Amino acid sequence: MSITILKGDVVSAPALGQLDTTEQGYLVAEDGVIQGVFPALPERYAGAPVEDWGRALILQSLADLHLHAPQYPLMGTGMDLPLLEWLNAYAFPTEARYADPDYAREVYRLLSRDLAACGTTRVCMFSSLHTDATLILMEELEKAGITGFVGKVNMDRNSAPGLLQETTEESRRETLRWLEACQDFPHIKPILTPRFIPSCTDGLMTFLGKLAQERGLPAQSHLSENRAEMDWVRRLHPDCAQYWEAYAKYGLWNERTLMAHCVWSDQRERAAMRDSGVTMVHCPDSNLNLCSGFPQVQVMLREGVKVALGSDVAGGDRLSMFDAVAGAVRSSKARRMVDGADFLTVPEAWYLGTSAGAAYFGEAPGFAPGNALHAIVLSDDQLPQPHPLSLSERLERCVYRRQPGAIRAVWSAGRKIYEA
Ligand code: GUN
Ligand code: FE
Repeated sequence: MSITILKGDVVSAPALGQLDTTEQGYLVAEDGVIQGVFPALPERYAGAPVEDWGRALILQSLADLHLHAPQYPLMGTGMDLPLLEWLNAYAFPTEARYADPDYAREVYRLLSRDLAACGTTRVCMFSSLHTDATLILMEELEKAGITGFVGKVNMDRNSAPGLLQETTEESRRETLRWLEACQDFPHIKPILTPRFIPSCTDGLMTFLGKLAQERGLPAQSHLSENRAEMDWVRRLHPDCAQYWEAYAKYGLWNERTLMAHCVWSDQRERAAMRDSGVTMVHCPDSNLNLCSGFPQVQVMLREGVKVALGSDVAGGDRLSMFDAVAGAVRSSKARRMVDGADFLTVPEAWYLGTSAGAAYFGEAPGFAPGNALHAIVLSDDQLPQPHPLSLSERLERCVYRRQPGAIRAVWSAGRKIYEA
């Protein structure tokens, strides 16, 4: 049996808005499975090697439940257009480059290493429509020790004909070829990924819904991100009173479904999410960059909707989920200035970026015994203290400051995958 014992100032998020803190505590895992956080090392581990990280923080690693891997090179550019124009001008031409496996290899290797270095160990990711590039992405994530889901994107209409669009038949055939080829990755699994309603024909959606049902596959897509997009969906599916129904009618609306953005979801759409156990993925940086809007995250949480966070690279301009956590707080404050709603606290946003994301993978919140070891060591001793800071104040400052080099080591599924 292998034993991992990390000693330091341990902080975890056992419930929305709550932090568990243990100064100079011991986080213990056996064979990569967490046994607990202890204020003193239990007798049974006497003599086992302890990695002592001094006064560094030991935190849960982060979960990015929505990003577009092929858009990584685009990140930080092209922020001058709203969603639908942005897709045509920037996202589609960038994604078209992944017909070239060498380019895919180069970008995906870099992205995978950068994810590990910024402490993101769980992902739900869009690839492009290219099967071979998607397999390369899965391979590179696997090599870097990242865990989670990757989807070959399906898009057979209204995209970029001749540049980035499949026929319905190609989309079906390539999806089956991809599912066949990706079976042996231990930590990276497939997720069905119709890009969004405007880019998938009814025939393709019917196929994907059947496939989800027959093979027990999860699905991810976009929902109610932008007003023009919603108008378009209404014209494409006049039988659906709301956007979400265009996923539900094909059987892609259940407790394994992830829906990014949900900026404009009203009470009825939110109730549909809650009742079916759909997870809403909040992408605050992207929503601001593309002028999409500010979703009512606190209302959703109060109503019982599952909410997690995403970077939405490259609508989002940062890969680090520390930015998404800070962005979620800022976004909620922007909303407060409009309608006086409660804003998210840092512990609440931290919960969304860690425990709420891990919940999609079936984990209990915080460093619960039985969870796989996903953790980061973060040192903040380069920064002078304004006064003696509590552990929760130190976490707050790390979220906002994002000091380069602060992340010292990262564990994913029990394995150390990064050390500075
Ligand atoms: N909706 C459909 N495709 C995309 C995409 O690539 N990014 C974002 N933010 N929204 C989308
Ligand atoms: Fe997106």
